[in-house]
Amino acid sequence: MDKELIATHRDFLKDSLRQAINFRFTDQHQGVEPPPLQKPPRPEQELIALPDKSEWAAFRGTDVLDAIANRMSRRRFKAESLSLAELAFLLWSTQGIKKQLAPGTAVRTVPSAGCRHAFETYLLVHNVDGLDTGVYRYLPVEHALVLEHEDSDLVEKLTPATLGQAFTAAAPVTFVWTAIPYRTEWRYYTAAHRVILLDAGHVCQNLYLACEAIGCGTCAVAAFHQELMDQLLGVDGTDEFTIYLAPVGKC
Ligand SMILES: Cc1cc2nc3c(=O)[nH]c(=O)nc-3n(C[C@H](O)[C@H](O)[C@H](O)COP(=O)(O)O)c2cc1C
Repeated sequence: MDKELIATHRDFLKDSLRQAINFRFTDQHQGVEPPPLQKPPRPEQELIALPDKSEWAAFRGTDVLDAIANRMSRRRFKAESLSLAELAFLLWSTQGIKKQLAPGTAVRTVPSAGCRHAFETYLLVHNVDGLDTGVYRYLPVEHALVLEHEDSDLVEKLTPATLGQAFTAAAPVTFVWTAIPYRTEWRYYTAAHRVILLDAGHVCQNLYLACEAIGCGTCAVAAFHQELMDQLLGVDGTDEFTIYLAPVGKC
């Protein structure tokens, strides 16, 4: 291994990156408006309302100790659909908004450095009650979905987009998180990228634990074909791109 190359890349893991920044020159300190909490839906997109907490009574009762103890990466899923209430619960658990604090800032069910929450959640749906096969996106502000586009070849495209990991295509729904880096760069400039990745871990861990609570399973996937996955979602690959994904199904 090239030790110099490794040393350069290790720097990315160090907080010295943040300490080198003059925060007076960040967009936040220059008075630039914060970017929006979520990517706005296109005008023609209709909002699909999601069941809220009032419909999640059946999901209560799993001891947090059991959920943590039983959590594991699950790659085999039953050929059963997910209900919309189950999907809504998993979305809220991973990115749900609890309170808006100020323009561009809201506290969610997961932590985020500087409360910047750089992620959008896309769903590759092919077996969820009431939803046609296609690519959807979660709107945490409204706790709703929008259909990004229908795609009857979704399942065929998913295996190559995950570098041959066929278990992703067998899941009734796959969560795909993109990053919109500017949301965090606005505050942290070049130190943003390290904390965006730290933030992503919290999101996926909540998905693991929420899945355990409702008889589902998931597996974090960081090995994927960047361009194919971005194409599948319809994101530009520059200002927004895939960083992590996780298929979900009944176990
Ligand atoms: C950042 C990250 C990336 C991962 N990427 C993949 C992946 O691409 N494919 C896969 O099958 N598992 C992937 N995993 C799952 C790990 O293989 C799994 O967590 C590990 O083997 C430990 O097993 P456990 O989660 O059951 O405890 C990933 C896990 C993490 C945290």
